[in-house]
Amino acid sequence: MKFNNILLEADNSIATIIINRPKKLNALNRETIEELHQAIKAAEADKAIKVIIITGSGDKAFVAGADISEFADFSVEEGTQLAANGQTILFDFIENLSKPVIAAVNGFALGGGLELAMACHFRLASDNAKMGLPEVSLGVIPGYGGTQRLPQLIGKGRAMEMIMTAGMIDANKALSFGLVNYVTTQEELLPLCEKIAHKICNNSPVAISSAIAAVNANFKSGVNGYDVEIEGFGKCFGTADFTEGTTAFLEKRKAKFTGE
Ligand code: COA
Repeated sequence: MKFNNILLEADNSIATIIINRPKKLNALNRETIEELHQAIKAAEADKAIKVIIITGSGDKAFVAGADISEFADFSVEEGTQLAANGQTILFDFIENLSKPVIAAVNGFALGGGLELAMACHFRLASDNAKMGLPEVSLGVIPGYGGTQRLPQLIGKGRAMEMIMTAGMIDANKALSFGLVNYVTTQEELLPLCEKIAHKICNNSPVAISSAIAAVNANFKSGVNGYDVEIEGFGKCFGTADFTEGTTAFLEKRKAKFTGE
């Protein structure tokens, strides 16, 4: 696959996807969104890949938002379509992926950039990172899930303030809000993400996939998360990974999961 806006690295079961438009602070234009979809889909289908890390190129930005130059003259219908399409092919797609996706927030994560980080399963930030949803300062609202995921992650009051003020918070405030799990230096950001990814790689891919679906079920209206958990738990008993995991424990050895 050939991409114009992203770089791919794969090493030791970890795929790193780097959004590569540094001159535009990695803003998400339509082509970048499509390429991210294709790259993430390919990583999900690749049995050798167990964890995906998404980050931005350069030392300034993760993603400074949706590309404003692309939608400045959109009509109501085009705006609606932009949000609907982006949510389907990228943001909801990542959230519901069967493999873990970690956001390495290496600088500005604004608008669609913070929405991208929030669609990932969890986030780490470098100490220079700044996060915000500035959409109302442009006369629009977040359209890639920001009004839903920010309150889920940091609570309604804090989310309302961030959205209404269009302000930015720094990495340490994001840490105190629970928006990111760790803050580290820019140099240590990817190594720390990889260290966590390696821990994930030791565990059953089938069970992890089922756990992602069960946790997400809690945030879906009309879905009973406890029921999803019961069903997922039961299904695990029919997997080779469960047999291997329990046998390895009883034999006092490290499990070797196949993801079956
Ligand atoms: N869409 C399109 N282009 C963007 C962009 C975006 N979301 N964010 C940054 N860029 C472009 C700038 O237009 C500029 O391009 P140019 O060099 O061709 O003029 C380049 O990236 C560098 O940005 P610049 O504004 O010069 O950097 P800065 O350090 O002065 O400011 C930010 C950094 C992040 C504060 C500022 O770029 C910004 O506010 N960006 C928009 C954030 C936003 O509103 N996002 C939500 C979109 S819905």
